[in-house]
Amino acid sequence: MKAAITATAKYLPANILSNHDLELMLETNDEWILSRTGISERRILKDPEKATSFMCGEVGKQLLEKRGIAASEIDLIIVATMTPDMLFPATACLTQSIIGATNAWAFDLNAACSGFLYALNVASGFIENGIHKKVMVIGADKMSSVIDYTDRSTAILFGDGAGGVILEPAKEEGYGILDTRLYADGTNGKDRLLMTGGGSLNPASHETVDKKMHYIYQDGRQVFKAAVTSMAEVAGEIMSRNNLCADDIDYLVPHQANQRIINATAERMGLDEKKVVSNVARYGNTTAGTIPICLAELDEEGKLHTGSNLVLVSFGAGYTWGGVYIKWQ
Ligand SMILES: CC(C)(COP(=O)(O)OP(=O)(O)OC[C@H]1O[C@@H](n2cnc3c(N)ncnc32)[C@H](O)[C@@H]1OP(=O)(O)O)[C@@H](O)C(=O)NCCC(=O)NCCS
Repeated sequence: MKAAITATAKYLPANILSNHDLELMLETNDEWILSRTGISERRILKDPEKATSFMCGEVGKQLLEKRGIAASEIDLIIVATMTPDMLFPATACLTQSIIGATNAWAFDLNAACSGFLYALNVASGFIENGIHKKVMVIGADKMSSVIDYTDRSTAILFGDGAGGVILEPAKEEGYGILDTRLYADGTNGKDRLLMTGGGSLNPASHETVDKKMHYIYQDGRQVFKAAVTSMAEVAGEIMSRNNLCADDIDYLVPHQANQRIINATAERMGLDEKKVVSNVARYGNTTAGTIPICLAELDEEGKLHTGSNLVLVSFGAGYTWGGVYIKWQ
């Protein structure tokens, strides 16, 4: 039996950082940001006491409430993140403690912006093999914790946020997560989008702080090119493997990094604009959070019906990328 999504939820911090706010901090302007990225504003988790696990906890509590189940029924929690509260323990364990899922085991998975699709695939395996009945998958990142707000090339792109789902066995054959393709290319990706400080290669020191090694570095142009090519290719692959034409697809749910990347993917799939989910204007790139946040918004808007065909695609640091085909139950 395939795995199906039975609940969705999202959490976005209330505090807004708009392009106009950034104009006051950096040499940039609303027109430049909007035309290059499609982003108008992003959310920032301002409270220094709160980190990624807080957002995961908010998502987790909503998921339990929406599904109408007790925390003790969750078998496994996977948190996809590249901004864990700490290197260890895992943010998934902190989330387990917040929501009181005492019977769950829990671990983090890091595939950057593709983290949610990677985690969805790992979680699906436990459902398909009959090992677990209820798995919570959350994608969450507090990107503001790794952004240099004096670097205009990265500060404009990212925001904080989290989204998640509960996965359970599908009620009927032919529904749920029907196909997944995941990829990685460390050879070309490892030097293009990274944070060099704080790991075992460059443990935190005065020097790593002085050299700003605890912030994101990105070769924007190269990442842009790789993202456009990879997301379009994997979307095409998902369509051809599942005999889907543009008319069959109800929604493309792409990773929200840049409106131009989203448009290029949709164009390659021959999709009408109405079928392309985009909230990058409001939230920027929340990394592992983008796709589950989009799913939660579609769900809240009542747009997901039995039989709806969804194609999810992502691209991120690593490089990592992938595509998923879901027939909504
Ligand atoms: C970051 C990104 C928006 C930059 O757009 P771009 O068109 O490639 O712009 P470039 O980096 O080539 O820079 C062009 C010029 O704009 C300037 N610039 C960069 N950021 C700017 C900003 N925020 N405001 C104004 N000017 C800016 C650059 O300094 C450069 O000036 P120069 O020509 O005088 O050197 C784009 O590369 C991108 O979206 N890349 C992918 C990022 C991404 O999605 N990453 C996550 C993937 S999961």
